[in-house]
Amino acid sequence: MSSSPHIHQVGIIMNGVTGRMGTNQHLVRSICAIRKQGGIKISDGEFIMPDPILVGRNEAKLRALAKANGIERVTTDLDAALADPFNTVYFDAQTTGRRADAIKKAIAAGKHVYCEKPTAVSTESAYELYEIAKKAGVKNGVVQDKLWLPGLMKLQQLIKMGFFGKILSVRGEFGYWVFTGTDGINPQRPSWNYRKEDDGGIIVDMLCHWRYVLDNIFGKVKAVSCYGATHVDERIDESGKPYKCTADDAAYATFELEGGVVAHFNSSWTVRVRRDDLLTLQVDGTMGSAVAGLRDCVAQHHGATPRPVWNPDIDSPINFFDNWTRVPAQQAFDNAFKVQWEMFLRHVVKDEPWNYSLLEGAKGVQLAEKGLESWAKRAWVDVPELKA
Ligand SMILES: NC(=O)c1ccc[n+]([C@@H]2O[C@H](COP(=O)([O-])OP(=O)(O)OC[C@H]3O[C@@H](n4cnc5c(N)ncnc54)[C@H](O)[C@@H]3O)[C@@H](O)[C@H]2O)c1
Repeated sequence: MSSSPHIHQVGIIMNGVTGRMGTNQHLVRSICAIRKQGGIKISDGEFIMPDPILVGRNEAKLRALAKANGIERVTTDLDAALADPFNTVYFDAQTTGRRADAIKKAIAAGKHVYCEKPTAVSTESAYELYEIAKKAGVKNGVVQDKLWLPGLMKLQQLIKMGFFGKILSVRGEFGYWVFTGTDGINPQRPSWNYRKEDDGGIIVDMLCHWRYVLDNIFGKVKAVSCYGATHVDERIDESGKPYKCTADDAAYATFELEGGVVAHFNSSWTVRVRRDDLLTLQVDGTMGSAVAGLRDCVAQHHGATPRPVWNPDIDSPINFFDNWTRVPAQQAFDNAFKVQWEMFLRHVVKDEPWNYSLLEGAKGVQLAEKGLESWAKRAWVDVPELKA
């Protein structure tokens, strides 16, 4: 006779879930996908089942979102959701400036917390969140989704296998053309992204990501040199009105890493794409190179490296796209946000190891802040260690 499985129901307060990230990545592709697959399997007899309550300002919107996704619980009263002991986790994907206060409230209510990046608008405030969470003894985490993108996982596998020899440099190219709205085409990002006063700006947005990508894969970031620009100075907002862009829409940043790897990342909402993907990472090493996109990765071994000679007077005898091999999928890949959600919930329920705490979140904010400082000072800026 088999006994019925043990299911850990985890009540999760999801705030900011009507937004772009909240709805698509966190609700639909993570929490609902986990529910649909029957929960997170710990063993044949043990599962974790997330049970979300959607929180926001507009009840009708929340109800529609809940209905479309087979969810029962919605509320416009965050305090009531926090007061309910069934809810043990607080998740936040609100606009950045609203996050710190909400997280503090959740920690005070004894909840474990998980949230989008940037965790706060200053290093001081982000580090304070980490300290408060640590002191309260609650589990805590920040979204670091890029680490589980199939393309970057393939890259990490190549590193593990020693494919590159000594890694010399990493160049990241991130971005695409974000329509301004002035041509009648709907902008594909929210307008607050382009307003400093609403915590927008690509440096704040992307350097958080580059921090954990670099720290985890290539070496700890020691120093940054960053130049920002606001290339487009007027855009059209969600209500069709023109507004002045006060935040940077492009960042040209170089990072010095522990171990000697040099990394340079261009991040831009004002470029047109002629490369393999919206994000590409090229890694060059003594024994080989690879270029990873979001899902794919191609590699070129030293032995397959062509030997170009500079001669602009003839058409190139080499097609530089030849001699690259597609790295095959050697394992199944799931949605990156979902992978991290599953790890976090296992950490909460089963106390499994977890390396993506609010301290890591604070490091992301710190790199963004140092990037802005470098731009303002027109100088290299050291990145001091934030103590655990
Ligand atoms: N991990 C990633 O790759 C990634 C990508 C994009 C954005 N983000 C981060 O996710 C967060 C949300 O970004 P988004 O693009 O989804 O933004 P969005 O504008 O689409 O969504 C913001 C959410 O916050 C809520 N909100 C805004 N103002 C509010 C208020 N005054 N009171 C209550 N709720 C309010 C909105 O209702 C919405 O649910 C940001 O912090 C952003 O930096 C992360």
